[in-house]
Amino acid sequence: MPLPIRIAPSILAADFSRLGDEVRGIVEAGADWVHLDVMDGHFVPNISFGPDIIKALRPHTEAYFDCHLMIAPADPYLEAFAKAGCDSITVHAEAGPHLHRSLQTIRSLGKKVGVTLNPATPLSVLENVLDDIDLILVMSVNPGFGGQKFIPAMLDKIRAAKALIGDRPIDLEVDGGITPETIGAAAAAGANVFVAGSAVFKGDGVEAYRANIAALRQAAESAAA
Ligand code: DX5
Ligand code: ZN
Repeated sequence: MPLPIRIAPSILAADFSRLGDEVRGIVEAGADWVHLDVMDGHFVPNISFGPDIIKALRPHTEAYFDCHLMIAPADPYLEAFAKAGCDSITVHAEAGPHLHRSLQTIRSLGKKVGVTLNPATPLSVLENVLDDIDLILVMSVNPGFGGQKFIPAMLDKIRAAKALIGDRPIDLEVDGGITPETIGAAAAAGANVFVAGSAVFKGDGVEAYRANIAALRQAAESAAA
């Protein structure tokens, strides 16, 4: 049974002065998950927002909060992100020496457990934690900024991740440079969750977002079928 296709707009590309409205807008426009990009200016060369902003957004929607932590170390902050209302917490395998401990901590906090890999990190770091995770996120750009170009070599990594997952109920997410032009190849390679920032928050308001999300979903569904 294939896992459902989900479109996860990244609010990194939203209007930060109106974040509550923007989150309600993308959910009304058909987003499945809300992707939250947390950056620390240390693990990645940019700073975005932290748990207090997520906590402030939580009352605006019941949609699933998919939190992508681009921070190192991550462990001291996992509880704060869980308490802020994240549904899943994804850590970078490169963010510290004790990935398994981070995954165990997220599990113990009652949240879905995700792990992500920078483009240069081999999939093999996941071989021994497969039974501890709910989601693998393949980065298809170097993390830190929205609006970058999809790295085509990541399609092989998505295919290999899909094979590694086998029939485990693990979501395979892809993040970076996802547009109606690139999403089909990622879906055909086996991804089922698609993060998109600039391709969703293009144009102004809910109707534009609805058309953008629909175009992404349609391209993913026809390629995955
Ligand atoms: C990159 C972030 C992405 C980013 C995607 O560091 O993890 O989620 O916001 O933005 P686009 O879709 O514009 O590449
Ligand atoms: Zn992200």
